[in-house]
Order: sequence, then structure tokens, then C-alpha cells
Amino acid sequence: MSASNSPRDRAVQNMFDRIAGRYDLLNHLISFRLDVRWRHHAIRQILTGGNSLILDIGTGTGDLAFNAVKEAKGNARIVGLDFSLQMLKRARVKQVTSRQGVNTTFVMGSAMASPFRDDSFDGAMTAFVLRNVSDLSLLFAETFRVLKPGAKFVSLDMFPPSTGWFSTFYSVYFYSWVPRIGGILSKDSNAYRYLSESVRQFQTPENVEKLIERAGFANVTTRKFMSGAVCMHVAEKSPMVKA
Ligand SMILES: C[S@@+](CC[C@H](N)C(=O)[O-])C[C@H]1O[C@@H](n2cnc3c(N)ncnc32)[C@H](O)[C@@H]1O
Repeated sequence: MSASNSPRDRAVQNMFDRIAGRYDLLNHLISFRLDVRWRHHAIRQILTGGNSLILDIGTGTGDLAFNAVKEAKGNARIVGLDFSLQMLKRARVKQVTSRQGVNTTFVMGSAMASPFRDDSFDGAMTAFVLRNVSDLSLLFAETFRVLKPGAKFVSLDMFPPSTGWFSTFYSVYFYSWVPRIGGILSKDSNAYRYLSESVRQFQTPENVEKLIERAGFANVTTRKFMSGAVCMHVAEKSPMVKA
């Protein structure tokens, strides 16, 4: 299936299909397992305490979805959406082998043409997806559409860090070492060069905040981790608004 006709989307889809087998290992390795902590912060924002249906956009191998189910202690069902069949196959393996599997559903499709009805979800979350999307405004508009009024949206992603000593250190590590380590372990150096470049060329967190607002969201906030190398955006669909 091709969820989008844009050459860039197809290239991204193919790339994630190729690296799916090593994705989890490399993710934890490259981030020194800090991704686990960032995901926890995102999940805490999205869980409301009540019984909720939450969309995980670009769910990949489902880490964010399974962790959310675990933290919700049975009070949430997560629908994971992704356009990479191979990433979803990994998620499905975990679904049948993990205790959290029962509260998850995985759907293949594009986040820019979300295959869900208006006002369907009590929350939406996404981790490390924005940089890969060819039309961010469309992704935010689709997210807004499928959320119920009053629902929250949380996004985690990597950004070029603010200037300073950390930025220098990070540039050497992320733009030079990560493509090498990722290339060796995944046997796909292009994929990990792409990962570095997608961060280097990504928008500022402030621009992303504006795009989220333009899609109709209110109360948009940005929290920065590691001098802004990773940012969490949190937003709300106002309780009075319909999609
Ligand atoms: C870096 S991975 C992140 C996976 C997961 N969210 C995580 O935190 O590990 C990005 C994922 O987004 C998916 N993706 C990128 N663009 C997409 C789109 N337009 N529609 C659906 N999935 C998309 C990719 O297939 C990939 O699985």
C-alpha cells in the first residue's frame, strides 16, 4: 500500500520498512535510553485518568502505545497508526507477546489522510514523527479533526538544539557519530544519514508551535529537554470547537 503519492513520503515509508528490524535497538542505543523518559513525560500529559481512546500517530513498533497502556493501568485503549507495514508488523509481534497488547489496535494508513471519523479520540500523541512528514500543516489539521472537543494533543520530537556548548557536543555526536553507528548496526547508512539530516534541517520548535496553533489548537506549550534537542509540544482542542 502507498499511503501517500508524494515521492518524499514513499521514500520515508520505504526507509522505515527497511530499518524496522533494528529500529528499537538503535533507538534506545542512540538516545542512551533517554527516549524512555521523554515518552513517559508525553504519556503523563495525555492520560486523563478516565477511560480514554488515544491515537498514536506514526506508532512505528508501538513503544509509545504499549507504554501508555501500561501507565494507564487498564484505563486507556490506544490505536496506533502508521504507513510502514514492516514497522507495524513489529508492533503486532509485541501485541501478541505483551500483556499490554489487549488494549492496542494497529492500523495502516497515512497521518495526513487519517482513516478515522471526526471527533473520534479523547487524545492524540506522536513521537519522533514530525520531521518525517511532508506536510506538517495537514498532519496537524487531520489530528485536530479526529480529536473530540476538549481533547489533548502531545508531540515529542528532535530539533536542532539551541546554541552553546551542548550544541557543539551534540552536533559532533548526532551529525557525525549517529550516522556511522546506525549505518553499521542497521546496515543502512542512508537511513541514519537521513535521520541526522532530518534533525539538522527541521523547523524551530517555535515554528512548530505556530503550525499547531494554525490548525486550530489552543493553549499550545513547548517544553524543552537537553537544550531543546528534544521538545514536547502540548495543545488542546477547545471544548467548544467541532472539527
Ligand atoms: C522515527 S519513527 C517513530 C516511531 C514511534 N512513534 C516511536 O516513538 O518509536 C517514525 C514513524 O512514523 C511513521 N510515519 C512517518 N510519516 C508518516 C505518515 N505520514 N503517516 C503515517 N506514519 C508515518 C514511520 O513509518 C515511522 O514508523
